[in-house]
Amino acid sequence: MKILIIGAHGKIGKIISEKMSKSDSFQPTAFIRNKAQKEFFDALKMPSIVASLEGTVDQLAQAFEGMDAIVFTAGSGGKTGADKTLEIDLDGAVKSMIAAEKAKVKRYVMVSVARADLRSWWEQSPIKPYFIAKHFADNALKNSALDYTIVRPVRLTDEPGTGKATIMPTPDVLQKSVSREDVADVVISCLQNPETIKKVLEMSAGTTPVEVAIKNCISA
Ligand SMILES: NC(=O)c1ccc[n+]([C@@H]2O[C@H](COP(=O)([O-])OP(=O)(O)OC[C@H]3O[C@@H](n4cnc5c(N)ncnc54)[C@H](OP(=O)(O)O)[C@@H]3O)[C@@H](O)[C@H]2O)c1
Repeated sequence: MKILIIGAHGKIGKIISEKMSKSDSFQPTAFIRNKAQKEFFDALKMPSIVASLEGTVDQLAQAFEGMDAIVFTAGSGGKTGADKTLEIDLDGAVKSMIAAEKAKVKRYVMVSVARADLRSWWEQSPIKPYFIAKHFADNALKNSALDYTIVRPVRLTDEPGTGKATIMPTPDVLQKSVSREDVADVVISCLQNPETIKKVLEMSAGTTPVEVAIKNCISA
């Protein structure tokens, strides 16, 4: 399966890239905006495309040509202002969805954020613009013709993965954090499991093996 990872040089993106490039099931390509980041992917013998979510829909569609699936794990990050949150996390994401449709790439896995539908939660958050951006990007994805899966982790850590998680259709019983490696494993498992299409997976650290937690979530 040919996968384009948008945000491949980010922390989750790198983990997904490393795992996919070692697997026989995937042929990953990195979507990066900085040429200097190519080196990391060259070492993995993984192709990379230098482009930006700030580009046009047509430029994105060109980059997506021939892919089987898109993984969106990009983000403007906490150091930029609300303008970049709007431009990347919302408009960049939406442009990538339109581009995926244009390039006939049907499968799309979005790394979103836990509680993106819970207005009462993000009303009080210091990162309210981020939640708003993620909420409306997810809505656009749900309203698209794409075969989407939305993975919504809580606060991310750089702890090693556990292979276990709590994964639910709603965010009621989540723990406070989750390791990026466990999120990466869930993204990879979703791509291998068509039953996750059109599902939202709210996730945190947990005690259930990832595959089982996904199965329980989609049948809940
Ligand atoms: N931090 C949290 O606690 C948290 C919680 C839940 C969900 N999330 C979501 O999880 C995802 C991944 O998180 P992470 O920690 O791995 O993020 P990260 O390390 O900040 O990586 C984000 C990546 O997005 C790339 N990016 C930014 N603007 C771009 C553009 N215009 N075009 C192309 N790529 C662009 C960055 O590129 P550069 O390397 O060039 O800067 C970076 O590689 C994000 O979608 C985030 O919103 C985060």
